[in-house]
Amino acid sequence: MSIRTYKSISPKLADHCYVDASSVIVGDVECAEHVSIWPLVAARGDVNYIKIGARTNIQDGTVLHVSRTSEANPNGFPLIIGADVTVGHKCMLHGCTLGDRILVGMGAIIMDGVIVEDDVFIGAGTLVPPNKTLKSGYLYKGNPAQQARPLKDSEVAFLKQSALNYIKLKDEYIEETR
Ligand SMILES: CC(C)(COP(=O)(O)OP(=O)(O)OC[C@H]1O[C@@H](n2cnc3c(N)ncnc32)[C@H](O)[C@@H]1OP(=O)(O)O)[C@@H](O)C(=O)NCCC(=O)NCCS
Repeated sequence: MSIRTYKSISPKLADHCYVDASSVIVGDVECAEHVSIWPLVAARGDVNYIKIGARTNIQDGTVLHVSRTSEANPNGFPLIIGADVTVGHKCMLHGCTLGDRILVGMGAIIMDGVIVEDDVFIGAGTLVPPNKTLKSGYLYKGNPAQQARPLKDSEVAFLKQSALNYIKLKDEYIEETR
């Protein structure tokens, strides 16, 4: 497992996190309880910080990064991901803020300054351009992302269920590696 310190700041993992041995986590990265990080994820908290909320899963091949501070943008763009979020395979999350119970479909790209409110479904391959806000309760898809329709009740329920499925799965993986 590659969990590396950068400029004296080491990643912090709360209890019950699972980090696959092939992933790379560097610097100021904080994972709350029950976060799972799957194969080949790169999370680089160097020029700003990354926070990942409880029970969130970051799936295979996803890249997490941030933007540095500047005179024009004194906070830069950290990456903040809420609780019970599913980030599908091979996504790129860069300097954005995600709320709780979100599904980021496979291969989606979410750029600096984007805010995704709670309970949002982002279709596979969606590109969300800088500084956009995705409203709670909707499906977004396309390049650039467009609001497609309100979520069905079953889809809202699935947002939470997906996170639960991944908690069960990562517990099985933790057991395998004991
Ligand atoms: C977007 C999604 C939720 C389907 O939404 P939907 O409203 O049920 O869409 P439908 O399947 O009825 O398709 C409606 C239209 O959207 C298109 N479409 C479906 N998924 C799309 C996507 N991701 N991006 C762009 N267009 C999409 C369909 O081709 C169809 O187009 P048409 O009307 O021209 O034929 C689904 O395709 C998706 O992307 N799920 C994400 C799955 C995922 O990545 N999960 C994580 C796994 S770990």
